[in-house]
Amino acid sequence: MANAHPHSGKLGGHNLTVVHNGIIENFAAIKAELLPHGATFMSETDTEVIPFALANALEHSAKTLAQAVHAVNGKFHGHYAFVVMKQGDATRMVGTRRGAPLCVGLGEGANYLVSDPLALAGITSRFMYLEDGDVVVITPKTVEITDENGKPAKRAVKVVDQSADMAGKMGYRHFMLKEINEQPAVVSRVLQAHTNSSTMLPALPLGKLALGKVPFINIVACGTAYYAGLVGKYYLEQLARVPVNVDVASEFRYRNPPYVPGGLFIAVSQSGETADTLAALQHAKAAGQHTLLLTNVPTSTMARTADTVVNLLAEREIAVASTKAFMAMITTLALLALQLAQARGMASADVAGHVAHLRTLPTILTSLITEMSHEKGTLAQLAERLQEAKSMLYLGRGSLAPMALEGALKMKEISYIHSEGYASGEMKHGPIALVDKELVVVNLAASHDGLFEKTISNLKEVEARHGQIVLMTDAAGANQLRESGQVHSGMVVVEIPAVPQALLPMAFAVPLQLLAYFTATMKGTDVDQPRNLAKSVTVE
Ligand code: AGP
Repeated sequence: MANAHPHSGKLGGHNLTVVHNGIIENFAAIKAELLPHGATFMSETDTEVIPFALANALEHSAKTLAQAVHAVNGKFHGHYAFVVMKQGDATRMVGTRRGAPLCVGLGEGANYLVSDPLALAGITSRFMYLEDGDVVVITPKTVEITDENGKPAKRAVKVVDQSADMAGKMGYRHFMLKEINEQPAVVSRVLQAHTNSSTMLPALPLGKLALGKVPFINIVACGTAYYAGLVGKYYLEQLARVPVNVDVASEFRYRNPPYVPGGLFIAVSQSGETADTLAALQHAKAAGQHTLLLTNVPTSTMARTADTVVNLLAEREIAVASTKAFMAMITTLALLALQLAQARGMASADVAGHVAHLRTLPTILTSLITEMSHEKGTLAQLAERLQEAKSMLYLGRGSLAPMALEGALKMKEISYIHSEGYASGEMKHGPIALVDKELVVVNLAASHDGLFEKTISNLKEVEARHGQIVLMTDAAGANQLRESGQVHSGMVVVEIPAVPQALLPMAFAVPLQLLAYFTATMKGTDVDQPRNLAKSVTVE
């Protein structure tokens, strides 16, 4: 189980070892109950409470370990999964889940308990996904499941194709670089699966969802998926003219938001296991909203919860920093916006015209990645300078505002350089106070979005305060600056090919990802598994 360390506890004649994911929220109260029974705790962790609570249940009421697990499930509050073994009995494991993921891997003469099938890539492709409150007992030859009421239960066996996971880094130095390079193929796959090749119209599998009648959309997600949601808002509002709210899941779930009747709730999650997004999805579903999930893992807990699921088709993303899944998210959201626009009256020819633009993306991304990955190119040279940077500010307008947030997140999570993203127009409202000769300001600007002049005036403000300027813009923007004599020696210009406006977020994603990647590799950080981060955040 991800990030889990075994803890043991002995009480009476029962010596148990537990591996645990998640949080037992009321562990302090449980601990206080157990102390008078002779439990001696060696740590301050919630995990250590589990073996003692189980041993105590075995001492007093439960006849089997499975019964003890059911008993503690009735007492624990929180979002967790754990696996327990009796010391001296290596042939039997008991596991349970409440919120956090746990599944049974079915092997040849061996069974396994894992939080993520990825852990068993190359060992088995057959899995049973446990439901909340289930308790499972496995031996090398048997699997017995009881549901939250202690009744025998059967869970379907799903085959998870992990061939892509087995392919390894395919000669790339890091999974992140491999995944950046996979983006053209991911976009091709999404477009091929979700557009009609003869009509050129979007064809996302949305089942009975009555798109034409959707009055309001909530998009809820965390981290990079949240930034994809912000890009999605831009598409949905611009193309389909539907009002959209985008929220981080942790805020949404606790705000108890009022829902618009008949509204559409969209959860976006690469893993489909993020605890906050899952809880928000459950909240919206319970409130009667139609729930649509965009996920890369169609067997995930969220996929088993949502009314409608769209597979992001990015294939397994291994690097903690999300790249290709983000690309799949924004491409899918663009298609969703077009499908919605068509249902609300946009002419088919116009919709098809937008899809035709999207279809040029794989080629654009391929040449962008090739050009920008050059070891002696602008980005690599810039990254060399950035190794010493202490602080960075990313700015963008329109659909590039969320890309500024995403660029800053990529930089901070893998290079550990303090980076913040802002909508450019917000600079004067606070961040400008940070500008000095140490601060690196990365501006994202397209020359044809009608906002370029405003970006230039932002740049001048940074320049006047001796900030270090990086401008990511298209050739026309770079030329406009050069011709007006506004490119100064210290300014770095990263040129991006001119693309239709709707493709700006995809085109800008590549240099932002590569800049973070190069900077991190030059600094020597652990690119694929950065400190303090987990690939899927299954606790709050
Ligand atoms: C992305 O680079 C991050 N590691 C992180 O923000 C991630 O996007 C977030 O935790 C959400 O994950 P999910 O898409 O699996 O729900």
